[in-house]
Amino acid sequence: MTKFEEKKFEIPALKGISAKTIEEHLKLYAGYVKNANSILENTPEYSQWSEKDPFVPYWTSELRRRFSFEYNGMRNHETYFSSFEGGPKPLDEKSALRSAIEKDCGPFDDFLAKFKSLAATTRGIGWAVLWYDRKMKLLLVSWIDEQHYGLLNDCTMVIGLDMWEHSYVADYAPSGKKQYIEDFFANLNWEVINKRFKDAQ
Ligand SMILES: [Fe+2]
Repeated sequence: MTKFEEKKFEIPALKGISAKTIEEHLKLYAGYVKNANSILENTPEYSQWSEKDPFVPYWTSELRRRFSFEYNGMRNHETYFSSFEGGPKPLDEKSALRSAIEKDCGPFDDFLAKFKSLAATTRGIGWAVLWYDRKMKLLLVSWIDEQHYGLLNDCTMVIGLDMWEHSYVADYAPSGKKQYIEDFFANLNWEVINKRFKDAQ
């Protein structure tokens, strides 16, 4: 059976975000991969037990519902961790992504300020996201609750900022959320992000 692969990331020393936080965070990522695989692999077999137990269809349905949490938890984190690989690099002013941001989201600094505000002020756990709508060829900014509520169909995640507390509380304390957001952007390799955007065209 085809399985999802747990990817490995080469993450350099980061500003503000400790190696220990990344290590623990990668364990959570591994859990999403494992659980996504486990649901795919086991649900068909569980379904066969319905002849013995009338409740089986209900809890296998719940596993199917849970699948989107595990699957998107896996994919969201792959975007997050890969954005740090190669170390911080600025976004070239002539890059395709820079032009698209200025076309769809206004001046670059305004876009950054609005994105950071979304991340800082949205209550609850989730993700601040820059999307690329492939059908409309349009950049969009929105929020995902948990890992999966609020995903936009047919859009590619270009930037995914994990705002679950496990991402920053050990290094910043809850009151340090805004500094975590600043450091996330300071650590970004915009060349990776620009390539992700171009690959989605
Ligand atoms: Fe996370």
